[in-house]
Amino acid sequence: MNGHDTSLIQGLWRIGAWGLSSTELARLVEGCLDLGIDTFDLADIYHGYQCEALFGEALKAAPSLKARIRVISKCGIALVKPARPHHRVQHYNTSHAHIVASVEQSLAAMGLEQLDLLLIHRPDPLMDADEVARAFGDLHRAGKVAAFGVSNFLPHQFELLQSRLEQPLATNQVEVSLLRTDSLFDGTLDQAQRLRVRPQAWSPLGGGRLSREPVESALGQALAQVGRELDATPEQLALAWLLHHPAGIQPVLGSGKLERIRVMARARDLNLDRQQWFQLLEAARGFPVP
Ligand SMILES: NC(=O)c1ccc[n+]([C@@H]2O[C@H](COP(=O)([O-])OP(=O)(O)OC[C@H]3O[C@@H](n4cnc5c(N)ncnc54)[C@H](OP(=O)(O)O)[C@@H]3O)[C@@H](O)[C@H]2O)c1
Repeated sequence: MNGHDTSLIQGLWRIGAWGLSSTELARLVEGCLDLGIDTFDLADIYHGYQCEALFGEALKAAPSLKARIRVISKCGIALVKPARPHHRVQHYNTSHAHIVASVEQSLAAMGLEQLDLLLIHRPDPLMDADEVARAFGDLHRAGKVAAFGVSNFLPHQFELLQSRLEQPLATNQVEVSLLRTDSLFDGTLDQAQRLRVRPQAWSPLGGGRLSREPVESALGQALAQVGRELDATPEQLALAWLLHHPAGIQPVLGSGKLERIRVMARARDLNLDRQQWFQLLEAARGFPVP
C-alpha cells in the first residue's frame, strides 16, 4: 500500500529499546511509508529527552524523508532527568514559556521547520487555558505548528481548552485497547465522535501484553477463536477492534520491528462483525454487557 493513509500512526516512545542506528531508523521510517503509514508520534520527554534528536539524526541520514512524513510531538510533562538538571520534582508545565520553548527545542532536535501536530501531553491541574491558547496562537502564526491537540484529557478538560481556542483541537490521544476500555464508557470517545475529532489510541496492544496473552485465558481463547474465523493474529484483531469504533480511532503502533508493523498494518483490511467485537470486549473485561 502506498500514499497517505490516516488509520495508523507509528510511535517512537520505545526508540531507546530498539537500538537502531540512524540508517536503520531511516529504513524503518521508509518501510512505514511503503505501508502508507506517514505519521510519526514523538514527545519532548521520550527516551530521557533524546528521542527527537535520534529521530533528527535519522532524518539527516535520509533527508528526502522530511517532505514525506508528518510529525506529532508533545509537551507539558517535566521529568527529573539528567537532560533537565533544573527539574527538582516531576511536574506539569503548560505555561506559555514552556510550550513555546519545548516546541523550539523539538524543531531544532529534529531539524524541522514545523510540527504537523502538537499535543499537550497530560491534563495539568494548573493549566491556564487562556495562556495555552496564547501559546498555540503564537506558534501557529510563527508557522512552527500546523495543528494542536491534547492527550489523556477527559471530556471536561478538552472542553475547557477548546473554549479558548480559535482552531478546533485536532485529536485527543488516549490509552485505549482491549486491556484499557475506560474511554469507551467515560464520555471520551462519545465526545470525539460528537465533535468529529479522530482520537488516537496509545498502547493499542497494552504495551505488548496482548501479544503475550496466555492462550488459556478467556481473552486468549476469544482471540484464538475470532482469529481462526478471520485468519488474523491477536495483534491484528486488537487493532481491528479499535479501527471498528465509529469515532475513527487511529492506533499509535509501538513496535520497532518492520516485519511486525507490516503484519499489524493488515488489520486495516479486517472486518470484525458486531458480535465478534463484543465477544472480544466481554473476554477482555470478564463479563458480558448487561
Ligand atoms: N500520549 C501518551 O501519554 C502516550 C503514552 C504511551 C505511549 N504513547 C505513544 O503510543 C505509542 C505506542 O505505545 P506502545 O509502545 O505501548 O504500543 P503497543 O503496541 O501497545 O506495545 C508495543 C510493544 O509491544 C511489543 N510487541 C511484542 N510482540 C509484538 C508483536 N507480535 N507485534 C507487535 N508488537 C509486539 C513491541 O515490541 P517490539 O518493538 O519488539 O516489536 C513493543 O515493545 C508509543 O510509541 C507512543 O508514541 C503515548
